[in-house]
Amino acid sequence: MDDNDDLKDLIRTIPDHPKPGILFRDISTLMLEGDAFASTIDRLADLLDNGKPDLIAGIEARGFVFASALAYKLGCGVLMLRKSGKLPGTIVSIEYALEYGTDMLEMHDDACGPGAKVVLVDDLIATGGTALAAVELLRGRGALIDQALFVIDLPELGGADRLRDLDVTSHALLS
Ligand code: PRP
Ligand code: ADE
Repeated sequence: MDDNDDLKDLIRTIPDHPKPGILFRDISTLMLEGDAFASTIDRLADLLDNGKPDLIAGIEARGFVFASALAYKLGCGVLMLRKSGKLPGTIVSIEYALEYGTDMLEMHDDACGPGAKVVLVDDLIATGGTALAAVELLRGRGALIDQALFVIDLPELGGADRLRDLDVTSHALLS
């Protein structure tokens, strides 16, 4: 059994959440295991293409867990991409579709300066709608973003293919 098989075993699948027909991949069970969580963060760090970026952008809510731990390991800042209505300052926002509905992502308009090197981090890519929206928001503020890192990719949902101009890297594929 390789590391990815171990990781896959720690991810629980819950059928019909949050809607009938969705196989929900629950990474909370991986997060409960300290060693597995630490090795997941180490692996994300190893998967970086160009070393330490200026900022790790994490997507609320599950993405924050992995983004913050990775940023701590690298010694860089964390840029929060939040769901609607949470950020107190002047924001830019974008609506997007995901496997089970629609949602809104927001960031502070001054969270990164033009030319900031940013890597996007989330727990999981499914349709890619969330990540595409995140990249559009970040690039709209002048961020340089070439890579998006995920713990899990659900390749049957085609997300990585939709992020064509990025290096999309994931720790494990789940089908
Ligand atoms: C999940 C996951 C990703 C997104 C992936 O977040 O954490 O952000 O869906 O789906 P996509 O590739 O089809 O866009 P969710 O919106 O469920 O929010 P949560 O992290 O707050 O649970
Ligand atoms: N986000 C989008 N699709 C998902 C799935 N199948 N499991 C967990 N998170 C998701």
